[in-house]
Amino acid sequence: MNTANMKIHIRGKQNLSGTVRISGAKNAALPELAATILGSSGVELHGAPLVEDVRVMIEALRNIGACTRVDGNRIGIKIPEIKSDLVPREIVQTSRASILMLGPLLARHGHARISRPGGCAIGERKIDFHLEGLCQMGAQIVEDKDHISGRVDTRLRAIHFRFPGKSVTGTENLLMAAVLADGTTVLENCALEPEVGDLIDLLARMGADIQGKGTGTLVVKGKTSLSGAEHWVIPDRIEMGTYVIAGGFAGNEIVVENARPEFIGHLLDILKRVGVKIETSGDSIRVSSGGRLYPVDVETEPFPGFATDLQAQLTTLLTQAEGVSRITETIFDNRFKHTVELQKMGADIIIDRNTAVIRGKTALTGREIAATDLRASAALVLGGLIADGETVVDNAYQLLRGYENMPQKLEQLGAEVRLVGGSHG
Ligand code: EPU
Repeated sequence: MNTANMKIHIRGKQNLSGTVRISGAKNAALPELAATILGSSGVELHGAPLVEDVRVMIEALRNIGACTRVDGNRIGIKIPEIKSDLVPREIVQTSRASILMLGPLLARHGHARISRPGGCAIGERKIDFHLEGLCQMGAQIVEDKDHISGRVDTRLRAIHFRFPGKSVTGTENLLMAAVLADGTTVLENCALEPEVGDLIDLLARMGADIQGKGTGTLVVKGKTSLSGAEHWVIPDRIEMGTYVIAGGFAGNEIVVENARPEFIGHLLDILKRVGVKIETSGDSIRVSSGGRLYPVDVETEPFPGFATDLQAQLTTLLTQAEGVSRITETIFDNRFKHTVELQKMGADIIIDRNTAVIRGKTALTGREIAATDLRASAALVLGGLIADGETVVDNAYQLLRGYENMPQKLEQLGAEVRLVGGSHG
């Protein structure tokens, strides 16, 4: 399906009620697909979300020689032999996750050429920690305007490396390189996101020896080869958080299933302060509007803090809180583009350096607006659901990159949301 020029049409003033089931985590499936490069016997991923970023990664793996089978949410990948070390631009230009193939390709194949993805809508996305770690492991890295190329003459060697700052894909990339390196690698100040833990579980099933899961220090004893494995992807905490936020608008009552409340503990605390009613039980979260919503001051942080990937969606909710809220973005330097679109709908938001100052409560009106990035698209869909009249969100591809069947899931909750345009071919 050609997803260019697709738009999302949303009928406004729709109350949501019912149950929604959370899909597997995109940001766990992406490194796990890259990890399939590390062995030749094949990996079976269950519960992987069939979103556009995942399709792009599968295509990139096919290009280096992977045999792939997609059966519902089950993805089988086997790479008996690496036939090409190139990750071409036309495949990876829409997703930055291709950098996750660098560590595994160097570890198994000794060379890699990753095309540079285009510019990123949410700010500078540095990869210097990835490259510094791989260089210390013995790789020669050359960067030009089109590619990041790496080569290692013998085997990667173990290192003792402290990340200068927290990086999710940086941790994942060095971890995947270390599992096939010569000796014992110690990685310090690692990211604590659940997706890193889920990757560790897959690598352990493939035979890797990694100690320290859930802590900032990971100790990896390198092996000469890894085996095949079967793995169940964890639920997507950002999708989970998005539907929980949706449940907080006036008149809504949603039960979020296949949830892991501990993945979004910080968000649940914030929403309780805002006045949203939340009950958790096992793997489900019941959320309903508490009537009046109150303003809050929050800032984004690495896990277990409030996730930057939920900042845009919370902004939409806070346009409905009575008073002045402030959201400070500390992870990315340009992640407020959704606020410009929300303002077109009637929101009162001022950006003061890295803080969005949101004055509520404001009525929103349906407009034609544009999604600038994945999480912005979800924030605008939430805005459309409470707006007066119809909202049309251009650049629907952004939503399709990371939310599995969101229009269908919202329809099951009683909304009217349609994807329009695109062509088959
Ligand atoms: N950073 C550096 N040097 C590095 C790596 C990162 O300075 O070598 C900086 C970045 O510039 C940024 C911060 O560190 O300011 C955090 O970046 P990080 O590397 O953690 O981000 P990422 O790994 O590129 C992943 C998710 C993002 C999510 C961030 C933060 C995947 C595939 N992507 O990106 O997800 O926002 O962590 O949690 O896991 C999304 O799903 O919408 C999304 C953007």
